[in-house]
Amino acid sequence: MNLKQNIVAQFGRPHGVLGQLAGFIMARRLSNIERNAWTLDLLDLESDDRLLELGFGPGIAIQLASEIIHDGLIVGVDHSETMLRQASKRNAGAIERGLVQLYLGTVATLPDFERPFNKICSANVVQFWSDPVAEYRRLHALLAPGGIIATTYMPRHGGATNADTREKGMEITSQLEIAGFSSITIEEKQMSPVSVVSVLGVKVGKAG
Ligand SMILES: C[S@@+](CC[C@H](N)C(=O)[O-])C[C@H]1O[C@@H](n2cnc3c(N)ncnc32)[C@H](O)[C@@H]1O
Repeated sequence: MNLKQNIVAQFGRPHGVLGQLAGFIMARRLSNIERNAWTLDLLDLESDDRLLELGFGPGIAIQLASEIIHDGLIVGVDHSETMLRQASKRNAGAIERGLVQLYLGTVATLPDFERPFNKICSANVVQFWSDPVAEYRRLHALLAPGGIIATTYMPRHGGATNADTREKGMEITSQLEIAGFSSITIEEKQMSPVSVVSVLGVKVGKAG
């Protein structure tokens, strides 16, 4: 593998020096920031939201969310220690204020929370799950009735096309349906070199 391939191989669980570099790239690449900001826009964040992000990486979405959410809670989970360090540094002020909580681990290892979340998001994480339906079932259990989940995905492999993006969008849709989500919608945004998709689903029930 050449250096670029070695760095790309890091994105599923960044570690060591190359993992730090991967996090550095994710935090500075404009397309990555745009993709994260778009995901949060789709969730229409409000100041008192309780947001959970899965696979926060260097913590860009957490940082953007903390500019809007002031009275709620932002929780993130990532299984990379290297990313936990970078995201903690990036969001130190909000963590100090108690607005942001970051956990090392997976959805399955999160502690219990007093109240459920009303919004859940992930950006370019779904491709690393070995059992997406099981993951969505866990997330469904953490979401309040009426709550919404957004899964964003943009193919990063060489030669990727908009057709690859759409195919993944359909795959995510059926996984969300099997896991119990309703009112599923697919949003697509043209970016370079391919489009990005975000699939949104709702947990049935009346919002509290
Ligand atoms: C490609 S990076 C994306 C990071 C961030 N969402 C962004 O867009 O900048 C994928 C991240 O998800 C994390 N990840 C992958 N699978 C995970 C899982 N099952 N549980 C927790 N974190 C996971 C990786 O450690 C990595 O930080």
